[in-house]
Amino acid sequence: MFFLENAEIIRNDRVADGIYELECSASEIAGNGDPGQFVHMEVKPYSVESVSPLLRRPFSLYGVTREQGTISILYRIRGKGTSILAQVKPGEYLSVLGPLGRGFTLPAEGSATLLVGGGMGIAPLVYLADRLVRLSCDVNVLYGAETASELVALDKLQQEGAKCHIATMDGSRGYKGLVTDLLTCISEGEPTRMSTGKQACTDIVYSCGPLEMMAHVAKFAKERGIPGEVSLESYMACGVGVCLGCALRLRNGDASYAKVCSDGPVFSMAEVEFGAGEGEVRQ
Ligand SMILES: Cc1cc2nc3c(=O)[nH]c(=O)nc-3n(C[C@H](O)[C@H](O)[C@H](O)COP(=O)(O)OP(=O)(O)OC[C@H]3O[C@@H](n4cnc5c(N)ncnc54)[C@H](O)[C@@H]3O)c2cc1C
Ligand code: FES
Repeated sequence: MFFLENAEIIRNDRVADGIYELECSASEIAGNGDPGQFVHMEVKPYSVESVSPLLRRPFSLYGVTREQGTISILYRIRGKGTSILAQVKPGEYLSVLGPLGRGFTLPAEGSATLLVGGGMGIAPLVYLADRLVRLSCDVNVLYGAETASELVALDKLQQEGAKCHIATMDGSRGYKGLVTDLLTCISEGEPTRMSTGKQACTDIVYSCGPLEMMAHVAKFAKERGIPGEVSLESYMACGVGVCLGCALRLRNGDASYAKVCSDGPVFSMAEVEFGAGEGEVRQ
């Protein structure tokens, strides 16, 4: 079930160059939204003068405070819609539709979990980590970004109780290089509990970020027999399974298409066709 709410903006803060965190009141979405689900948001308050941009924009649930009835999203300015969204002020209202889509499958209490996020792909994993910690899971997060200043979710993850392992492309914090390189470190035994060699000590892997990154994570998990899920992106129009604008071909045959908005955005790693991106875990 989803809701259409006229959400009051509580804050819309610039947290890094081109990256914003927006919190708004949306009690029904907050009360019903699960990790991995998303909201479809109008990017400016209603105006009779202009309906442009016409289409809503999809954003993952980044944080949810059920008691206060608020949700937050973390977004990067990409084009017209997100540029306009960055101008929205506290006290203004935006129309928000959600919670939409299929979220992550939660494991049994006390499971060992591995979360791999790159760039804005960290957003749904932050809310997931919060829920996993409440389930007494062991939560290890591999978090990759271009540079240290873009690690905007790190404090939140650490406050939630997740163990974070960092990779930045410029080496300004943590390992210098791709976050998927950290998978190699794990398979060599550090950090502990996650995996040693080909023997899995992780019960489930979750990933969100660039497709190539998720392809590496999926290969890593498959080789060790660990189940996993990825959160995918697609261009969206309706966001509710009606227009077919977000269709994506799955692994099992040409005739098998899924709607990212309603069959996903979270899919089992085994069912996703990563295409040419699926390759070696970088050494
Ligand atoms: C389920 C889902 C969850 C998402 N969660 C987040 C999130 O938590 N944080 C966040 O920053 N972004 C998220 N996105 C992406 C976000 O929706 C787009 O960045 C946004 O719609 C861009 O709008 P725009 O008008 O600024 O850009 P546009 O003017 O529409 O496009 C600008 C550029 O961005 C590219 N682009 C636009 N939309 C997408 C897309 N869906 N996938 C790939 N490339 C795209 C275009 O090719 C173009 O190059 C999510 C997308 C989906 C489908
Ligand atoms: S966006 Fe319309 S069916 Fe998915």
